[in-house]
Amino acid sequence: LISAVDDMRVKETLVAGCDRKWSVGDCFGFWPRNDSHCEEAHRADEAIHRLPWITPLVALACAAICASCAPASGAPQVSRSLALSADGRSLWVVNTESDSISQIDLTTGTLAREILLGSSPPAVDPHTGRYEPAIRPRAIALVDSPGKAYVAAQAANAVFVIDTHAGVVTHAIPTGVEPTAVVATRDGGAVYVVNHESATVQKIDTATDAVIGTVAVSEHPWGAALRGDEADLYVTQWMVNPGVTIISTASFAVVGFTPLVDQPLDASQNPQFPNGQVRAVYAVVPRPGVEELWVPHELHSNNTPEPALAFNTAAFPAVSRISAGGVGLSGTGVVDNRILFQPPLSLLGPKGYFIDVVSGPRDLAFTPDGSVALMANAQSEDVMVFDANSGYEISLVRPTPSGLIEGIVVDATGTHAYLHGRSTHNVTVLAIATDATGVHVEVEGSPIECLASDPMPSNLRAGMRLFYSANSALFPITNNFWITCSTCHPEGQTDAVTWRLLQGPRDTPSLAGGTSQTGFLMRQALRNSVVQFDETIRALQGGSYQRDNADQLPGLEALADFVNDAIPLPQNPNLDPGRGLDASQAHGQELFSQHCATCHPGAWYTDSGQGNPSLNLAGPVTLHDVGTCVTSGPYPDQPSTDEAGDPRAACQFNTPTLRGVFATDPYFHDGSAPTLADAVSRDLAAAGLSSQDQADLVAFLKTL
Ligand code: HEC
Ligand code: HEC
Repeated sequence: LISAVDDMRVKETLVAGCDRKWSVGDCFGFWPRNDSHCEEAHRADEAIHRLPWITPLVALACAAICASCAPASGAPQVSRSLALSADGRSLWVVNTESDSISQIDLTTGTLAREILLGSSPPAVDPHTGRYEPAIRPRAIALVDSPGKAYVAAQAANAVFVIDTHAGVVTHAIPTGVEPTAVVATRDGGAVYVVNHESATVQKIDTATDAVIGTVAVSEHPWGAALRGDEADLYVTQWMVNPGVTIISTASFAVVGFTPLVDQPLDASQNPQFPNGQVRAVYAVVPRPGVEELWVPHELHSNNTPEPALAFNTAAFPAVSRISAGGVGLSGTGVVDNRILFQPPLSLLGPKGYFIDVVSGPRDLAFTPDGSVALMANAQSEDVMVFDANSGYEISLVRPTPSGLIEGIVVDATGTHAYLHGRSTHNVTVLAIATDATGVHVEVEGSPIECLASDPMPSNLRAGMRLFYSANSALFPITNNFWITCSTCHPEGQTDAVTWRLLQGPRDTPSLAGGTSQTGFLMRQALRNSVVQFDETIRALQGGSYQRDNADQLPGLEALADFVNDAIPLPQNPNLDPGRGLDASQAHGQELFSQHCATCHPGAWYTDSGQGNPSLNLAGPVTLHDVGTCVTSGPYPDQPSTDEAGDPRAACQFNTPTLRGVFATDPYFHDGSAPTLADAVSRDLAAAGLSSQDQADLVAFLKTL
C-alpha cells in the first residue's frame, strides 16, 4: 500500500493551478482549484505526510475512491484542418482556397490524391474580379469504419461526406451558417458541427447522416473538442465574450461556460507586459489523461495609446489552461493559469512562460502521454514546444516551411507531428525525439505539397501569405515575428477591439467583401488605397515596407489585391435567400430608405466617395458629424490629416458600409455601441422613431 502511494507520487502528475503532486485532496476531489484552497491542500498534505502511520490509510482511501479521479479514458478528439487515419498511414488535409481535400501518403511522404468537393475548382469571377471559393473546407474528421470523412464547408453551409476508399464525395449534409469545426466520437457514431455565423452546434448521427440535434451557443463559436471520456463537448467562443462553452453530450445541452477574462496591465504599467482583451480563440485542446484544457489565443491591448502602441505592445500570444475542481470540468471550469510571453527575462513569473516571441497561436497538440505540448503559431510560422507539466517553453521550431499554420497533429507513437500550412498549401513533418537530455523537435525533410495545382491566382496567393504572416525573417512586414494584418483583422474581418490611435479611439473595421466598393478608407477617409498600408506596417507592425520602393511595391499591390478580391463577406444567418424579407424586415427597409439612405445609399450603403469616383483626396470628400464624436475622457477624438496632408476635423466621419454589419459588433468608430439596437437608438436619423420602428430597422440591418 505504501508503494501504491509512492507510485502515485512518482507519477508527478501536476494538478493545474496548484503546483503540487497527487495528494489526498485530489483523490477525494474536494479541493476547488483556487489559490487559497491550494494552500489549504498544501497544508493538509504536509500535515498528513508528517504522520507516517497514516500513509497506509490514505492509500486505502485512495484505492477505494480513485476511480472518481482517474484520468478521463481514451484520447480526446479535436476539430482540426488535418486528420490522421487510424492506421497512421494517411494524413487528410482541407484545402480552403481550392475547394478540395487531400490525402497524403505518409509512407512515401507524397500527395496520394486530391479530391475536389465541388464540380470545378474555384476561379476568379470574370465580372467582379473576386476569388471566392464556394465551399471553403475548414475542418475534417475521419470515421474509420466504414471509411468516411466529414468536412466542415464554411462557404457551402454544409458538411461534405467523403467515401475515403473510393475518394468521392457521396453527399452533403445541410448545416447552420458557416460551419468551421467538426469532431467525431472515437467510435464514429456521431459527428458534432460548430456553425460560426448561426452560433449553433449540431449533432449528426453517422448511421443515417441526419442532423439529430441543434443547440444554440453565444455569438461566433469556432473550434470544438471532445474530452477523453466523451462526456463533454467543448466549443470555443472566438472573439467577443471569449471563452469555452461546455455542452453535455448526454443531454446535448449547454451546461457551462468558462470566460477567458481580460489581462490587466501589469502593476508596473509597462505596456510591454502582456495585457488586453482575449481574442482569436480558435482551438480548445484537452490534455490526455488530465482534467485540463489548453486554449491558445491572443491578447489585444485596448489599454495602450499610440505612440506607445506599437508592434510589441499591441498584441501578445498566450495560452490559458483551464481545469476544474476534482471531478471534472462540467459547468465549473475556472481559468487556473495563463501562460504568457514575458518580455524582460528577469521577471519570469512562477506560473509558466514562453520566452520567444511568437504570433498567432492557433492550434496545439499533445504527445500521446500528455507530457509535451506543441503549439502551432499561424503567423510567426513556427511551433513552440512546452513541458506540459510546468507550462515552460522547451524549444521553438523555427523556421518551418509552412505559412498560416492552421493545424497540428501528433501521431499515435508520439514520434512525428504534422503541420498544415494553409497559405503555402503544404504539410511540414516534425520529428519528435526524447533522450536523456529531453525532448527534441525538428523539421524533417521537405514539406509535402497538398495540391495537384493551385487554382488561386499567384498575386492573391502572395497577398494572402503577407496578410497572415509575421515571419520577419522572410518579409519586412513586422519586427521580430510580432504582428500581422490578420492580428487585428482575423479572417480578414475585425478583432472587435477599440484601439487607441493618434486620431482617437478606433474600432477595427472589417475588410470582408473588400474595400473597392466602399469609397475612402479609414473612419475619417484618410487614405484611398490599400497600397498605402505600408504606413500601418511601419507604424503598428514594426515592419519596413515602402510603397515608393520599386522592389517592395509588388508585395504591397498583392496585399491590396488580396484585401480587395479574396476576403469573403460573412454569410448571413438572418436572411433566407429563398424567402425574401419578412414583414418586420420589409418595414425596416422602408424606414431605411426614408431616414438613412441619403448617407447610406446604393448596394454598399455608403456615400463615401460620392461624386469623386477616382477617390481623389484633393476632390470632394463627404464626411458627417452624426453625434458620435468622443469629446471628453482620456482618449477623445483628435483633429488629424489625410494622406495628402488635408485637415480632418475631430468629429467628421466617413460613412461606413453596412454590408455584413450583423457580424461586426461593436459599432461606431469608437466601438461604443455594443449591438445594432444600441447603434440605432443612438442614431440621430432614427431619433423620434418608435421603439417598434427601431426594432424593424435593426431587423432590416441584420439582413444586409
Ligand atoms: C493594430 C491593429 C491593426 C493592424 C495590425 C492592422 N490594422 Fe487595418 N485597421 C485597424 C484600425 C483600428 C483601422 C481603422 C483606423 C482608422 O479609421 O483611423 C484599420 C483600417 C484598415 C483599413 C480601412 C478599412 C475601411 O473600410 O476603411 C484597411 C484596408 C486595413 N485596415 C487594412 C490593413 C492591412 C492591409 C494591414 C496589414 C498591413 C492592417 N490593416 C493592419 C487596425 C489594424
Ligand atoms: C448624415 C449621414 C447619416 C445618416 C442620415 C445616417 N447615417 Fe448611419 N452613419 C453615418 C456615419 C458618418 C457613421 C459613422 C459614425 C461613427 O463611426 O462614429 C454611421 C454609422 C452607422 C452605423 C454603425 C456602422 C458601424 O460599422 O460601426 C450604423 C449601424 C448606421 N450608421 C445605421 C444608420 C441607420 C439605421 C440610419 C437611419 C436611421 C443612419 N445610419 C443614418 C452617417 C449617417
